[in-house]
Amino acid sequence: MTAATARAFPNIALVKYWGKRDEELILPVAGSLSLTLDILPTTTTVSLAPEAEADRFELNGREATGESLRRVAAFLDLVRSLAGSQTPAFVRSRNEAPTGAGLASSASGFAALATAAAAAYGLDLDARGLSRLARRGSGSASRSIVPGVAVWHAGDGDETSFAEAVAAPEMHMVIVTVDAGEKPVSSRVAMRRTALTSPFAEAWPRTTEESLAEMISACEAGDFTRIGRITETHALRMHALIQSADPPIRYLTPRSVAVFDAVAELRERGVEAYATADAGPNVVVLVQSADAEAVAARMEEFGRVQIAKPGPGVELLEGD
Ligand code: DP6
Repeated sequence: MTAATARAFPNIALVKYWGKRDEELILPVAGSLSLTLDILPTTTTVSLAPEAEADRFELNGREATGESLRRVAAFLDLVRSLAGSQTPAFVRSRNEAPTGAGLASSASGFAALATAAAAAYGLDLDARGLSRLARRGSGSASRSIVPGVAVWHAGDGDETSFAEAVAAPEMHMVIVTVDAGEKPVSSRVAMRRTALTSPFAEAWPRTTEESLAEMISACEAGDFTRIGRITETHALRMHALIQSADPPIRYLTPRSVAVFDAVAELRERGVEAYATADAGPNVVVLVQSADAEAVAARMEEFGRVQIAKPGPGVELLEGD
């Protein structure tokens, strides 16, 4: 095969990944759990280019340079080393989510890239292998290989750190884009700074593993209330941890906080809704499907609102 196209969807963590114990292999300090969405996918084509001198990367029709090209080329180097190839590639990617705004574009991006590159270079990987490979591009991408709810095991090394599906009740997400701009500090840089400077960093892996164990049992029991409570608590703990770095990093803006308040108010009125946010100002509200429309309508004053359902795992669309 000389070209392959894959499509992957973003995921939003209900138990967050924040911090690496191995930066080269991207092994996390703790496991995490997420919901893969059915909107805002990334579609990526990898074409082998034997005549080219170097890799090229085009994102949304624009030739990429700098850090994003460097990350893609480094990932292709990994794929080539596994495939025993030296052939450069042309990568073309279309991403429907605003890049770098904390809506998991690196997760869908590296899940699609890993799957398309593995096919183009002839690596024969199952879902676990693809999840491990995607992880090397961006940790959260390991989870976008998997449909619906996915747990990414911290593992005890490269081979055991992958994501797999978990049974869970039907859940929807209301995405509230309060600001589509680029975030000030990338999650990669912020994770490192948190680990090096926060006095709370030591407690984080243990409490996250505890939250994860509770979350998996709540998912298996189909207990939406427990799932929601753990989701919101764990998100706010992550943001508290990030804010305690030196110099501090604050992703949540007054508008994000207003969404968390509006969600708490909905709960007081008996609506089961719980908020979370990744490394950016945008907020995602976890709801049961019957409440999605009403919660979305309530959120409209804060920004662009979209309803997402559980989505599919990564798909190989075509190859030649
Ligand atoms: C806040 O997966 O983008 O979204 O592994 O350095 O590429 P790298 O980080 P990335 O971090 C995601 C952080 C998060 C939480 C989560 O998705 O679990």
